[in-house]
Amino acid sequence: MQQLDGIVSRARAAFSAAGDAASLENAKARFLGKQGELTAQQSALKNLAPEQRKEWGAKFNAAKQQIEQALEARRAEIADAKLAARLAEEALDVTLPGRGRGRGGIHPVIRTWQRVEQIWRSIGFEVADGPEIETDWYNFTALNNPENHPARSMQDTFYVDLKDQDGLPLVLRTHTSPMQVRYARTHQPPIKAIALGRTYRVDSDATHSPMFHQVEGLWIDEHISFADLKSVYTDFLRRFFEMDDLELRFRPSFFPFTEPSAEIDMAFKGSWLEISGAGQVHPSVVRNFGLDPERYIGFAFGSGLERLTMLRYGIDDLRLFFDGDLRFLEQF
Ligand code: FA5
Ligand code: MG
Repeated sequence: MQQLDGIVSRARAAFSAAGDAASLENAKARFLGKQGELTAQQSALKNLAPEQRKEWGAKFNAAKQQIEQALEARRAEIADAKLAARLAEEALDVTLPGRGRGRGGIHPVIRTWQRVEQIWRSIGFEVADGPEIETDWYNFTALNNPENHPARSMQDTFYVDLKDQDGLPLVLRTHTSPMQVRYARTHQPPIKAIALGRTYRVDSDATHSPMFHQVEGLWIDEHISFADLKSVYTDFLRRFFEMDDLELRFRPSFFPFTEPSAEIDMAFKGSWLEISGAGQVHPSVVRNFGLDPERYIGFAFGSGLERLTMLRYGIDDLRLFFDGDLRFLEQF
């Protein structure tokens, strides 16, 4: 009997000493398993006189019950401790500030795009859109710039390895001017439209990139002159820069599709930065619009959106727009 008490207290001690579920199951085997200490006592039963067996059996059962209870209690303790440890480890401090998501922003050139579009709309211009891969005819010929004409070399062109209906290679449009022709051939005068978009040339330095953006403007009616161009364009620039006393110059120039032609420059860091070509639409081009040049006349311009952005924010290298450096882009 004393042996049974000893077994019970040894089992309790062993269970308390077990620090995790696996060592607890090992300890259980030492007492309740087939070779366990308590199980071994069962065989002693056979050697007892029948009248003793009953009493001993009761003691044995009581001891077994105590051991099983101790085991259950320890199992519960270990499970609780494990859960508590896991909760502590996975604890979330909901009062910590969130990490947030990186917020995107609008690229400075696209801001200019939106601003330019909004200003010209308010002056009564429609907004048109057209292809970046152009035919030779729209990009050059219709603009009075025939094959083999030296003026074509003003714009160093990317050709595409595909031919148009005339058997000529397609081009990445070198300017938005083909949109003049596309728009005028599908609309009736008075025509007042702008077209914004990407343009491409084999160009690369601080003020030229191989891909850049232009806004084309076209106003065709019966009595539209170069003087209207000057006043409307100056009005646009005043609104764009929110400044009335702009340092601006219209410099005589040449484009095959306008006559007379000008380039428009703005003062920038002690010098001039060209922002636009412009001019009165050449009669041959008006004819290619499908209109009678004796009756219709007007002006067109094509301005660089990167250049307008440089001027607005005082940026002297347009390559910064395309480097994707967040330290630069986040300033806008
Ligand atoms: C033209 O592209 C003419 N189509 C403009 C025009 C339209 C004249 C209608 C008359 C009538 P130009 O090559 O100068 O012209 O380019 C116009 C503007 O685009 C330039 O003033 C400049 O602001 C911008 N630009 C030209 N090339 C680049 C380039 N590689 N990178 C950034 N901006 C450029
Ligand atoms: Mg130019």
